Amino acid sequence: MKITVKDAAIKLNKKEVVAIPTETVYGLAASITHEEAIKKIFSLKNRPLTNPLIIHISHISQLKDFLEPLSEEVQKLMDKFWPGSLTFILPLSKNAQISSLITANLPTVAVRMPNQKDTLELINMIGPIVAPSANRSGYPSSTLISHVEQDFGDSFPVLNSETICAGLESTIIAYEDGIWKIAREGAILASDLGEILGYRPLSLSKKEKPICPGQHFRHYAPNAKLILKSYEELQNLEGVIVGFTERNYHKATQLIYLGSLSNSLDLQTNLYKTLRFLDEKGISTAYVDIDFPSDDRSQILKHRMEKAASC
Ligand code: TXA
Ligand code: MG
Repeated sequence: MKITVKDAAIKLNKKEVVAIPTETVYGLAASITHEEAIKKIFSLKNRPLTNPLIIHISHISQLKDFLEPLSEEVQKLMDKFWPGSLTFILPLSKNAQISSLITANLPTVAVRMPNQKDTLELINMIGPIVAPSANRSGYPSSTLISHVEQDFGDSFPVLNSETICAGLESTIIAYEDGIWKIAREGAILASDLGEILGYRPLSLSKKEKPICPGQHFRHYAPNAKLILKSYEELQNLEGVIVGFTERNYHKATQLIYLGSLSNSLDLQTNLYKTLRFLDEKGISTAYVDIDFPSDDRSQILKHRMEKAASC
């Protein structure tokens, strides 16, 4: 159910949960001051309490309530990428008074300023909010209001906007051993960060211990079974195929295009939409062309697809 900024503010102040648009994906929001509402987020999503939440702010001054003064480097990154799709994991200040549900009892907190005007207006009205992606835990993130409604019901309140979600979550960075590392790859690329930092931050590989507790859990997976295949292997396979517009899949019984090989932003917009589309159409098994283009963004999308298929 679509609601206005004003109605969303009233609901959040009444300790309710509402879905909000961001420039990446939809989020499920509660005021950081209402523990009861934060609990509701975990139960609505069926999210383990050990998986902490990102605080979304509308103004840098809001950070002083739970962070120590920012280093020059952090300020520089915030100046460049905020509002936008970069999340920082930073140490909580000693006098921070936020619910331990937000941080899952960690000594750090994740923060970002989303680049979506209605959501920024809402945060201006009621203060910072927590917002995990608005999907059932483990399922693909929501990039449309209809996705939020699929997961939480038609009458679930969603802040209405003209937003077109870019389709990939924010990049999460953490400072460890004197350097910045990418804890979750996302919409801001390592090369973009490198321009400010003077070095390309390491992306934590699948093998290393993840910094984000969330990465232990099932992720991005539709109900449909995904079977990853090379383009060459797909030449001999019959069935539903998820692939790229420039390629031929001679034996496909149904073709679902992720987008063009030459447009990684388009692939990004379509990734979760396509995974959800499989379930909307009741498709039980799909072959996925895993020969993604070699550019950095497409490789991040490939990795998301691998995670979705591994469940
Ligand atoms: O684009 C996004 O980031 C979206 C939109 C709605 O803002 N939000 C999002 O939130 O993707 P969520 O909850 O689905 O993913 C946040 C990730 C989880 O993997 C969680 O474990 C990690 O951030 N995280 C949050 N706080 C953390 C902390 N203090 N230390 C390490 N990881 C943390
Ligand atoms: Mg999520």
